[in-house]
Amino acid sequence: MKKTITVIPGDGIGQEVVSASLTVLETIAKKFNHTFSYQYALAGGAALDAKGVPLPDETLKLAKSCDAVILGAVGGPKWDSNPQHLKPERALLGLRKELGLYANIRPAKIYSALAEASTLKKEVVSGVDIVVMRELTGGLYFGKPSGFERRNGEEVGFNTMIYSESEVRRIAVAAFEIARKRRKKLCSVDKANVLETSQLWRKVVLETAKDFPDVELSHMYVDNCSMQLIRNPKQFDVIVTENMFGDILSDEAAMLTGSIGMLASASLGGNVAMYEPVHGSAPDIAGQNKANPIATIASLAMMLTYSFHLSEESDILEQAIENVLNKNFRTGDIYTEGTTLLGTKEMAEKIIHELSTLH
Ligand code: IPM
Ligand code: MG
Repeated sequence: MKKTITVIPGDGIGQEVVSASLTVLETIAKKFNHTFSYQYALAGGAALDAKGVPLPDETLKLAKSCDAVILGAVGGPKWDSNPQHLKPERALLGLRKELGLYANIRPAKIYSALAEASTLKKEVVSGVDIVVMRELTGGLYFGKPSGFERRNGEEVGFNTMIYSESEVRRIAVAAFEIARKRRKKLCSVDKANVLETSQLWRKVVLETAKDFPDVELSHMYVDNCSMQLIRNPKQFDVIVTENMFGDILSDEAAMLTGSIGMLASASLGGNVAMYEPVHGSAPDIAGQNKANPIATIASLAMMLTYSFHLSEESDILEQAIENVLNKNFRTGDIYTEGTTLLGTKEMAEKIIHELSTLH
């Protein structure tokens, strides 16, 4: 198989985790006789420094003309005080919107070797296997009007939370389809006791449920969900929710696993999908070979599954990650006494070594 991948390392540890992960992907390519070619593109702070904008047209063009996009992370203190349209984060939002990536899949699965790494009790987290399906191109993030204004002699900032039926329906369908392939339980999270957008959300999810009678649907308010995720995370299979709630809940779900450095994501919905670790650019450890590359490597496993339909390759990659963790190799974020501390590159090398032993 021949595929072209647009690689956007971005800022901070994005650079390191992406380059380490590509060495792993190349190993998969060799092992299974695939040819992946890479076109590099700038986004975020890196693009601001080189081109003066967070998302250059050239990047968008490359992202639209390939088979999948890999993104590291964007952002950093250097650009934090930039005006809104010149913040590195705009690149991410622009890519999501322009590529039509309305369905963001964020799995939070506990690797058994890491059950001790969670801040929660082992018996609460062991066996947790949740997928957060976050709506990614609507809601408060993109709703108009938004901005700053002077009202009654003072400055106000405002955003609009808006969802149309079709926006809710397509993410609901995607979530039901994922649930159908898993344990067939879907929890739709909203704030229907307060928000009109949530009332519409709930109505459309209920309508959509008629086409998925085999999936058990429940509804939960977002505040309760954030509590239930800590109290009893094993009750969840797939969670579907709007953009902002999903941003928050997916970080919370990620932390159940001990480190956000482990969590992968796939953003689907358009012609080209984008894969990125859930973690950010971590400027405090950037450039020190300390970052955990597993989130990005696991994102590549998702790419193999969702974009290239290479499930055997994807399974082997996930197995290699698991084996390395079982052998007690750790990066700093998941290190505990008695395990072996590795850098970013060395962790990727261990996974590569493991790949060579798997069939
Ligand atoms: C995420 C991030 C982004 C978001 C930021 C960096 C714009 O937190 O992917 O979860 O809020 O969506
Ligand atoms: Mg977030």
